[in-house]
This record gives sequence, structure tokens and C-alpha cells, in this order.
Amino acid sequence: MTNKKDWDLETLLIHSGRTTLSALPTGTPTVQPIHASTTYLYDSVEALDKAFEGTTPEGEPAFVYARHGNPSTNTFEEAMTTAEGGAGAVSFGSGMAAIHAAILAAGVAPGAKILASKDLYGATIGLFQKVFAPQGVTIVLKDLCTPDVAEVIEEEEPDIIFVETISNPLVKLVDLDAISTASRAIGAVTIVDSTFTTPYLVRPIEHGFDLVVHSTTKYIGGHGDSTGGIVVSATNALLSQVRNYAIILGAILSPFETHLMTRGLRTLALRMERQSQNAARIAEFLQQHPAVAHVYYPGLSEHPHHELANRLLRPGLYGGLLSFDLKEQTREAAFRFMDSLQLCLPATTLGDVFTLVTYPPISSHRTQTKRELQELGISEGCIRLSAGIEHCDDILQDLEQALG
Ligand SMILES: Cc1ncc(COP(=O)(O)O)c(C=O)c1O
Repeated sequence: MTNKKDWDLETLLIHSGRTTLSALPTGTPTVQPIHASTTYLYDSVEALDKAFEGTTPEGEPAFVYARHGNPSTNTFEEAMTTAEGGAGAVSFGSGMAAIHAAILAAGVAPGAKILASKDLYGATIGLFQKVFAPQGVTIVLKDLCTPDVAEVIEEEEPDIIFVETISNPLVKLVDLDAISTASRAIGAVTIVDSTFTTPYLVRPIEHGFDLVVHSTTKYIGGHGDSTGGIVVSATNALLSQVRNYAIILGAILSPFETHLMTRGLRTLALRMERQSQNAARIAEFLQQHPAVAHVYYPGLSEHPHHELANRLLRPGLYGGLLSFDLKEQTREAAFRFMDSLQLCLPATTLGDVFTLVTYPPISSHRTQTKRELQELGISEGCIRLSAGIEHCDDILQDLEQALG
């Protein structure tokens, strides 16, 4: 008899959301049905009253109202908790809603200081500056992908630290261990956006992080057909804060989207492997192409964070995301290249089964000025590519003809 506790992550992901055999006379569906109900009935008001506590007397989850939790989101949250090795998880209607709740759960308040990577996803910086800064929260944006990150943290003494495992679009890595150790020493809450890596490549809680957020719109859903987010907590105390904010803010994931997310999880391992393999081949191809000036991919030995990637990520896999600078570093050249693509899609997202190409100055970094882009090292000819799961020869052929 195999024990579920001994299963590898790949096996656990595939079996996430699978029902257990029940005594239903009509047979047990293999996959959990979608629970669209907004409310849940009990055989007495006393039982309903108990259900408000969240668990049955037997310790099973009890549901009363969909915004507070329901069997569909519960399944997805349990699967993500297992995948990340956390104490629990709360799902949201989008990655941004998850980030918002994570910051609130971390105890943000007037006078608090958030220290964050300066090259975070643009909307996350927008959330800090447009929502939290006006409430008296100090936002400090610094390069946290540097080897002296512990000193930066010591110097700034923040209350909350927010980083991304891999930055966008220049795919720099953060040293999760150094950050969590320095943060614990000053009592700061650590939050990491692990959207680009997913638990298949790295599990930040094992590296000492408090909260892990994902835009599940990306690799977790994986098929470009659903929007969602999740916060996984390392502790029960932070988890209950996240749950409270989810209920109050109402930014919940619908049972229909949840169904797609749980389905996506089952093939996450296969997709991450294929996308990482494709990205590695694409990076090598672009590196030797005369129309390309520079390639950014942590799998390349000359990438400044290649060794860090070897330490943090699943051996041999460096993710599906890369960027490159065209030799002709102009917006016109970038647009011309993207308009010439026939298989790769010029779309503003990443992590889908399709290969996607985007121009950061008009998408993820749209609100940044030219000068800010320069400071971040994002050139006018920078293209971000999210490798899909197509046959890599077809992707390379398309890139070749478009670069030509
Ligand atoms: C790293 C990262 N975090 C968060 C988000 C926001 O996710 P969502 O669009 O699901 O709100 C994105 C979106 O592109 C992202 O790239």
C-alpha cells in the first residue's frame, strides 16, 4: 500500500482534487464536481451555528457561505498548501487581489515600512505607491537581487519585505535564504511572489519565507483561460489573517475558475519541465543569432545568478521565462519583430501552453518612464518571451523568420 505522505510532488499534483471513494450508489466521480452553491444547508440551526466555526465536530471543513469558503476553493487551497509545504492557503480572484491581502495580513499600518525589490511587476509597485503610500506607509524600492541584500535589510529595518523569486523581465533571482535570515533577525514579515517559479521549481517556505503568493493566472492555471491568485502561509496565525481579509474584501476565486486552476495543477510538473527545456534551447539559439545583442536567462552559465539558480531551483530547470535585447534597440524594431511572428503570440501574459512574446515598455512596465526603464536596465529593444509547450523546432523556426 503506497502512503500519500511518501508521494513525490509530481504525483501529489496529479492527484490533487481527486475525490476519495464514497458509498454513493451512483458511483464516485473521479474529479471533484464544481460546487456552485452560494449557501450550505444543515439539518439543524445548531449544526449551522457550529458550521460557522469552519469545521465539523469531526474536524472536516464545514461551509456556510461561498465567500467564506466552499468545497471547490477548499480543494484548490489544500492542493497548493501541499505543493508549497505550508500551513494553509487562501485563493483569490486574481494575483493582485492575493498580493493586496498578503500585505494586509502581514500587518501593514500607517507608519509601517515595506522594503521591496525595485524590479517588481509594475502593478505591484502601483499597489504599494497608489494604495498603501497614501495611507502613511513608507515604500522603499531597492535592488534586492544583490549579494549584500542582508546589509540592505539591516540598514532599512522594514516591517514587511516583498520580493519576486525571479524578476520581470530581466529574470534576476533573489537569495531567499539570505533574505529570510536577515528579516527574521529584525522581525520583518517576508512575502515572495513565486508566480514565475511555482512550487515545482522552488518552495520558498522551505527557505524561511512567511507568505508565498502566486498569480495563478500564469503557470498554475497554465492554459490562458482563467484568472486567479493564491496566498500560501507558513503559519496558522498569518493564515487566519489572510482568510479574514479574503472574507472582508470579497476578492474570492469563483468555483468555476477554481476548477480550472485545480485541473491546471495536475499537469504543472509536465508543463514546467517542457517550458524550461524549451526556454533553455531558445536562449541558446538567440544567443548565437546576429540580430540579438543580449539574452537574459538564468540557465545560461554567464547569467549573474546562474549559481544562485542552481542552489535554489529544481536541478536542471531554470523556468520558462527569458528576455533578449534586439541589436536594433528601438521600439519600431521590437514592434516589427513581434508583428512578424506567426506561431509565438504577442500577448500580455506568461506561463501559458502557448509561447508568448511581449514588449515590457507597453505592458508590464507601461507606467514606467523612459528614464526609470533605463535605470532598471530595460532597453528599447527588450523582448520578453514565455516559452510554451509547442515543439521547440517550430518555435525556433518562427523566431528565425521574424528576426530575419
Ligand atoms: C509576477 C506577477 N505577479 C502578479 C501578477 C498579477 O497577477 P494577476 O494578473 O492575476 O492579477 C502578475 C501579472 O502579470 C505577475 O506577472
